[in-house]
Amino acid sequence: MPPREGELPVVPDPAPMVDGFGRRIEYLRISVTDKCNLRCVYCMPLEGLPWLKRDQLLSYEEIRRIVAAMAPMGLRRIRITGGEPLVRRDLPDLVAMLSAIPGIEDLALTTNAVLLGDQAEALRDAGLTRVNVSLDSLRPERVDAIARRPDSFPRIMDGLDAAERMGFQPLKVNVVLMRGHNDDEIHDFAAITRDRPWHVRFIEVMPTTANLDISANQFVSCREALDRVRELGQLEPVEGPAGNGPATYYRFPGAPGTVGVITPMSHNFCDRCNRLRLTADGQLRPCLFGELQTDLRALLRAGKPLEPAIRETLRIKPERHDLVPGSDAGSGGLVALSQTGG
Ligand code: 5AD
Ligand code: SF4
Repeated sequence: MPPREGELPVVPDPAPMVDGFGRRIEYLRISVTDKCNLRCVYCMPLEGLPWLKRDQLLSYEEIRRIVAAMAPMGLRRIRITGGEPLVRRDLPDLVAMLSAIPGIEDLALTTNAVLLGDQAEALRDAGLTRVNVSLDSLRPERVDAIARRPDSFPRIMDGLDAAERMGFQPLKVNVVLMRGHNDDEIHDFAAITRDRPWHVRFIEVMPTTANLDISANQFVSCREALDRVRELGQLEPVEGPAGNGPATYYRFPGAPGTVGVITPMSHNFCDRCNRLRLTADGQLRPCLFGELQTDLRALLRAGKPLEPAIRETLRIKPERHDLVPGSDAGSGGLVALSQTGG
């Protein structure tokens, strides 16, 4: 039927993003830089990595255009990652640009929190809704030993306080488990969830070329972590906070926070995968691991349409990853997760 006078014609919505296995994709992780102000032992070599050059990075406007192309296809939630996203200049500007795009309901950040105390307010004012903080120990000297940048701990604590003050909720705290580094702090991390509304998530270390020794020799499974947590008291399975991802959550009855586990090694959760990733240099990746990627930057800079390339990336999204502790066979040549946004 032709539109009546005064009515806008109905523009058909493009089909939602569904991959070849029927998984509905509504979540994009955007890495804004491959650089970091820390050197976590399981992530980057101490000397760093060969960083991308300025003109290889997507500009904020280019990132905005990619999100604006995906929002009508059903993109609803965005997470900004790195490297460490807060080392990129003027990040609140990007947050403001993305939160203004119709359809985007949730805009979150994963950060090591070192710079969060300074930027939390500007980020909230720009439209950021929540943060995940990486914190692998509650002991200052251990944080120094793991993150290999002295005096980070007080700044991280400042960042966490600021996150609570700004009302970023739910506040998720990521703990990568490593034998001999922090496996004796599982109780301490779990106990915090009885006092504070933190959602502590224990993560199994994933092998990349830079961490094969840790992956082979210091691996701690989340099954072990949960057994340790249960020593403190009964746990009940819970739905988990907003932002359905790969974690499974539990709670001590009545506690304000939860304990979650992310088990990329012991239990594959790929059947629930709802995401794509955009690297800092504009590659759309269907999976954290593997070599598959689509060069959206080249298309953008050549003035070509993005939608066919986005659909093709969905079509080739693999069914699952296959990782082996201590081997980079399944990781597709990834040196560090900081290169693809973790
Ligand atoms: N294995 C598991 N987790 C990792 N992270 C970074 N590298 C690895 C790895 N090799 C974590 C960071 C951050 C999250 C995005 O991923 O600590 O919390
Ligand atoms: Fe930086 Fe995160 Fe890698 Fe640590 S894990 S070095 S904070 S990118």
